[in-house]
Amino acid sequence: MRILAKHGDEMDILALPHETVKKGEYLSIEEGSDLRTLLIQAYEETYMDAPGVDEEILRDELFHPEVSKIDDPNELQSVSYMIKDARVLRCKIRASIDGQTLSHDVNWLPSRAQNRIQRFPYDKMIRYVSRPEAHRIELGNTIGGEGFGIDCEDLDGRLTIITGKKESGKSHLSKLLISGLIAHGAYVVVFDINGEYGGISFNKDGGPSPFIDRVKNFQVGSNLGFSLKYLGKRVFIDILSHALDTPSITVREFMKIWDHLVANGRLNMRGLYEAILNWQSNEMVKNALLSRYYSLMSTRLFIDSEISAVDFKDTISQFPSGVAMIFSLPTISSLSRRILVQIVLTKLLDLLEGKEIPPIFLFAEEAHLYLRDTYWEDLITRMRHYGIFTTFITNQPDALGPSVYRQADNIFLFNFTNERDLEMIAQAAIVDADTVKGIVRTLPRRHCLALGKVVAELPVTVSVRDTQFVTLGSTRLFFNGPTPIEPPINHSKT
Ligand SMILES: Nc1ncnc2c1ncn2[C@@H]1O[C@H](COP(=O)(O)OP(=O)(O)OP(=O)(O)O)[C@@H](O)[C@H]1O
Ligand SMILES: [Mg+2]
Repeated sequence: MRILAKHGDEMDILALPHETVKKGEYLSIEEGSDLRTLLIQAYEETYMDAPGVDEEILRDELFHPEVSKIDDPNELQSVSYMIKDARVLRCKIRASIDGQTLSHDVNWLPSRAQNRIQRFPYDKMIRYVSRPEAHRIELGNTIGGEGFGIDCEDLDGRLTIITGKKESGKSHLSKLLISGLIAHGAYVVVFDINGEYGGISFNKDGGPSPFIDRVKNFQVGSNLGFSLKYLGKRVFIDILSHALDTPSITVREFMKIWDHLVANGRLNMRGLYEAILNWQSNEMVKNALLSRYYSLMSTRLFIDSEISAVDFKDTISQFPSGVAMIFSLPTISSLSRRILVQIVLTKLLDLLEGKEIPPIFLFAEEAHLYLRDTYWEDLITRMRHYGIFTTFITNQPDALGPSVYRQADNIFLFNFTNERDLEMIAQAAIVDADTVKGIVRTLPRRHCLALGKVVAELPVTVSVRDTQFVTLGSTRLFFNGPTPIEPPINHSKT
């Protein structure tokens, strides 16, 4: 391989047909005299347009039968084939290695005449960027076939995005991350829009998985409900204002009713209903109060007991070695979803502000279905500050908004072919548009491009590994899971 040219942060490398380099692989350029090494990553591959090649190809095509009969003792023909098949690898300059130090600031140019260019295996790269005693999560292999994993430390305090087109393997990766986090004792909250994360508890052979004692499923109608006392006034008011669009005048009335209920020791949904009915106010305000009350009741999320079915602090203390709290959302209405998510987030924030619980890793699938745009900013900035570290998973990259991409610390990017989707992701600060468009467009299923802190800012193409535990989505579980009713008996054979 040879250096052809350099433009800005890019290098063009000439590769002969036998010098195969896959898109996404790294190359090192070593200078003969020096110990310095330049690390570059191939993101695109084209033919070398040498002068006269077009004419040669045309001549080949026209005289092909004769050409093959010509005696070619000096193997000129094979040289000519090599020239035609020579490729140019478009590469991004990623880092420089000087002795034992890897640096992202590259301020030198290798000699074009005297250098050695070769594949730079990931195993070698990891030696420069790995941290000792990290909490590893094995995720699969690089395209070069070396094992690939990330450190939980790089998800800690970070904003992560997993995106790609439908069925590309996003949820699968997210389940791998969750199982890795809980294996290391972390606390995870999952908004499970398709009801597929409960599978983490079971192996594909039907037996329990190693995580069975670290998963807590919450389902509306069974073990998912909150008492007003547990929620507290602030969370309740937040739900009214944000999830139910309650006008401020009505919110104020609710606040007065709340205080009245507390003073009389009747803070529950029944007490709330009776208080609204007997409340001294005009018909309009009373109707507004009642309509909100009915909306809340319709969600089945509020229970009339002093003790909540869900208690985050309790759950966390019951699982001292980490737990994934999975909130199943597929069977509930969009209003219930919005209110549930609002309750969970506001309550977690409340507990984190009081330092009552440890930081939480939040996994939100298709969050645009239950969170408003204004809430993104909040999740990312305010909530991160208190200790909610979010991973968004989506197949609609434009649903997240450019500010989310700009603030992302890590992105796991699966295949996208749509130009608009690629443009959206290219806005992320941690990656350049050329890499996104060059590599992601041709990624096979179950492969992703890992970007950001998890790969020490050195993008890596990963083939995501399979799991022992069940990862199927809800639609597949309907056909593959246990049959809900007994199959009819076939009498014809008896
Ligand atoms: N690395 C992998 N190894 C084995 N199976 C995988 C892998 N990645 C994904 N799958 C399987 O492929 C199917 C689709 O994957 P997954 O549900 O993760 O896709 P998705 O991108 O989340 O799709 P959607 O956009 O519909 O949510 C699933 O059945 C999953 O189990
Ligand atoms: Mg999915």
